Amino acid sequence: MNQITAPDIIMSKNKKKLVMVTAYDYSMARLVDRCEVDMVLVGDSLGMVSLGHEDTLSVGMKEMLHHAMAVSRGVKKALVVADMPFMSYQAGVSRAVLNAGRFLKEARAGAVKIEGGTSVIPQVKAMVEAGIPVTGHLGLMPQSIAMFGGFKVQGRGASRGIILSQARQLEEAGCFCLVLEAIPPSLAEEITKSISIPTIGIGAGPCCDGQVLVINDLLGMNDDFTPRFVKKYSDLSRMIRQAVSAYASEVRSGVFPGSEHCYKDD
Ligand code: KIV
Repeated sequence: MNQITAPDIIMSKNKKKLVMVTAYDYSMARLVDRCEVDMVLVGDSLGMVSLGHEDTLSVGMKEMLHHAMAVSRGVKKALVVADMPFMSYQAGVSRAVLNAGRFLKEARAGAVKIEGGTSVIPQVKAMVEAGIPVTGHLGLMPQSIAMFGGFKVQGRGASRGIILSQARQLEEAGCFCLVLEAIPPSLAEEITKSISIPTIGIGAGPCCDGQVLVINDLLGMNDDFTPRFVKKYSDLSRMIRQAVSAYASEVRSGVFPGSEHCYKDD
């Protein structure tokens, strides 16, 4: 079984819809990889969904590498894309290339993802030059929420043209695909039609070349808040609470463990 590569992803443009999903650990990575997804993203959303931070800014290289290694061990077929955390690439080109290289060398990811437009073009070019496939990320960029004033829809009004032009720049710089987050569907469609690399949408409507969702959202593991763009395909939060409560009650009542769960004397 050959593992999917960045060139395979580029070749898929206009042939099939691409499926990307996040995973943060070995067991989830193994499960999603058996579902014929094309790409598994070790997103820095890790900071929020697995580590309990209120945004992605506190996540560092140490955490991302640690989780990317675990995910890579579980994935045999899909392309593993590792998200580069805040300040691992913004502060300079050589630092960006060295950090990106660690995801391929130490974590065995097949590609990295970085957020940003014009300001990260030198980093994208240098990474690609160094043999590192790069996914771009435009629209709502969670690492820039301090500038955006929160998790807000992007690409309305004047910023529409800027995002379109940045998408073209990222393609030219060598990105092999582009995540578009929280922008109007009409803008996502215009970008998708005007570049030759696949677009992967999250809150960007149906016209992208593919879609990505955070696994915890898709499985319904968070009942506090559900963004508009999330579809819950399961209600794991309720199922987990039911299962653990049943276990607790059986332990307390002595029903568990039963004789079938015990070893024989000899
Ligand atoms: O960190 C992440 O999970 C992401 C996706 C939402 C695209 O960047």
